[in-house]
Amino acid sequence: MSKVTVIGAGAVGATCANVMACREVADEVVLIDIKEGLSEGKMLDMYQASAVLDCDTKVVGVTNDYSKTAGSDVVVVTSGIPRKPGMTREELIGTNANILKSVVTSAAKYSPRAIFLIVANPMDTMTYLALKSTGLPKNRIIGMGGALDSSRFKCYLAKATGANINDIDGMVIGGHGDTTMIPLLSKATVKGVSVSQFASKKKLQEAVSATMVGGATLTKMIGTSAWYAPGAAAAYMVEAILKDQKKIVPCSCYLDGEYGHSDLCIGVPAVIGRKGIEKIVKIDLTDEEKTRFAESAAAVHKTNAVLREIGAI
Ligand code: LAC
Repeated sequence: MSKVTVIGAGAVGATCANVMACREVADEVVLIDIKEGLSEGKMLDMYQASAVLDCDTKVVGVTNDYSKTAGSDVVVVTSGIPRKPGMTREELIGTNANILKSVVTSAAKYSPRAIFLIVANPMDTMTYLALKSTGLPKNRIIGMGGALDSSRFKCYLAKATGANINDIDGMVIGGHGDTTMIPLLSKATVKGVSVSQFASKKKLQEAVSATMVGGATLTKMIGTSAWYAPGAAAAYMVEAILKDQKKIVPCSCYLDGEYGHSDLCIGVPAVIGRKGIEKIVKIDLTDEEKTRFAESAAAVHKTNAVLREIGAI
């Protein structure tokens, strides 16, 4: 029996639950929210969809009762407010820090062995807060950002090169922020062949810039934060955990000297399996990428410092 809880029945949480239910990633998916009836309604809707999609995941909607989440193998935290057009993810910290702390401590009480996947923004800082407020081992607290940012990078590289999106390999490391993320163009390929053979330098640089503001672009177009790719990226990571896939996924990990940095959660490639973060993968970065990673780490540290200023840690 495998069980996943998704906290927050907004668009990202519900999409994540829906992708997991359709793909039968877990035996049971619980969606929990503070708004009366919201999770119950969305899960009833999903159960009805099972009849036409031929999937058979147990889907449960819950209002606020964490006892129903007991024994979860993975807990996905999407609760909190999304950004509005023109806002940065960092501006959400005050409201979302309080929500995050309360939900992760409640969930950890009922699922002491769970792996926590943090989606709420500012994601790297919320991952750090989850680690500090639960005291769980660092392999069991993962931030989702890099998986999402890499999917956006692949999308823009597919557009730039004209290649099939599934033939693209590309990775984004660093913080999950408009100016802090680092799409690794030097390592991006189409079926193992450098993207530089398929598009001009200018087009590839445009793909990098579009990736970095990928979330903000969608927020401006839709009027609120995106959900299809964020929800799917979270579901993809849950699947890697539950099926012990040992996939290398760029995601926010607690660094303790790796990449020359300590005491922060930031995006780096990691092997994801049943134990959560099983290994941080060390890859060679160019000098420019190293400089950008140091700048990104400094920015994440600065946002983490706000947690201390507001008394969250
Ligand atoms: C985004 C939010 C989920 O990038 O951070 O769309």
